[in-house]
Amino acid sequence: MHDFHYREGELYCEDVPLSRIAKEVGTPCYIYSHHTLVRHFRVYDGAFKNIPHIVAFAMKANSNLAVLRLMAKEGSGVDIVSGGELYRALKAGVPPTKIVFAGVGKKPEEIAEALKADILMFNVESSAELQAINEVAASMGVKARVALRINPDIDPKTHPYISTGLKKSKFGIAADRAIEEFKAAAAFSHIKVVGLHAHIGSQLTQVTPFVESLKKVLALVQALAEQGIPLRYINIGGGLGITYSDETPPEPKDLAEAILPLVRDLKCVLIMEPGRVIVGNAGVLLTKVLYAKDGEAKRFLIVDAAMNDLIRPSLYDAYHDIRPVYEAAAHGEKKTVDVVGPVCESGDFLAKDRVMPALNAGDLMAVMSAGAYGFVMSSNYNSRPRVPEVLVHEGQIHVIRSRESYEDLVRGEEIPEFLA
Ligand code: LLP
Repeated sequence: MHDFHYREGELYCEDVPLSRIAKEVGTPCYIYSHHTLVRHFRVYDGAFKNIPHIVAFAMKANSNLAVLRLMAKEGSGVDIVSGGELYRALKAGVPPTKIVFAGVGKKPEEIAEALKADILMFNVESSAELQAINEVAASMGVKARVALRINPDIDPKTHPYISTGLKKSKFGIAADRAIEEFKAAAAFSHIKVVGLHAHIGSQLTQVTPFVESLKKVLALVQALAEQGIPLRYINIGGGLGITYSDETPPEPKDLAEAILPLVRDLKCVLIMEPGRVIVGNAGVLLTKVLYAKDGEAKRFLIVDAAMNDLIRPSLYDAYHDIRPVYEAAAHGEKKTVDVVGPVCESGDFLAKDRVMPALNAGDLMAVMSAGAYGFVMSSNYNSRPRVPEVLVHEGQIHVIRSRESYEDLVRGEEIPEFLA
């Protein structure tokens, strides 16, 4: 459920017509609903209220400072994957006691920054990384809390680029070597093993892979306890899917119902790292048709947003619903169109062979479900300034990231003396 809906023929975000945002902020721009963000967080967090837990929002999905602040105010922690994300999280006021640090390639500087901030724990992906963390912690005279990320070898039945829990994937430590690795970890002088982490993939539309993964995790937790390595935290990662088109993913309460009976009696804190399910449907990318062009084979709508603004269709062949801002346009004759951007690549599209109302130059449209992995994956390709982000709250439009300027594009670049 989200707060983008038609009212008297016009698409609104909460009580604000998108046309007003287009007028005031310009297009393209990302628009997020504060109400949806808060509701999504509360629904997720609330589903687990009967057990000790931490929701660590996977900020890679959307790392705008305002979004992070809002999450922190709701009591969320964050799952970070870089020093840059740590910087953002601390700046937004996320308590370090709720920050977990994942990723296969943490650099010594990043490890040091996280230790300095005294974050809750590192999710460790290899023995080499464990060694690196131990060294940095020793040099700082502290102990690093860690969870080992195990790879449960479960097929999440999602896009191969976003499956992470299979044996062939670069993530985690193989489940059959886990005990050995945990023992080795526990022997390090500056490491304190506190948890076990398993994230199997993203955009999961069934509960079963979560349950299967958790069962493997729990068997390990028990085996570890028997070997004298009790764990305080179990991290089940993120991955709950959303509806982009006609998917019917489980709701947080369905996930909770499936896993709570398995973990209720453990004396552990459950950590979850949802990203997409919190922000995905809370945001849209607003764009304007620049030109309509009837090609030999089909009609193209050339819009002012492109693959550099939203790369998911080009990269994963992902489907995003596209809605005209004025519903009247939707009642006109439908045509099969490609919605494409101005970038000089055939792979630059937001929708392919889509049966859509015959929109024309000047028409506004919203690319739906763009709140997760949208702006954060955008780039300046073709020297296109990155677009603004807007947060709608109680009838007000808040620009939470301004449109980049041409000066922003060249910031940090220099022409060396010898070329002068
Ligand atoms: N935890 C870990 C360790 C992860 O690697 C991820 C996502 C998450 C949590 C959050 O997963 P979520 O709840 O958002 O599914 N760019 C791709 C998605 C990449 C996901 C990477 N890892 C996309 O646009 O679909």
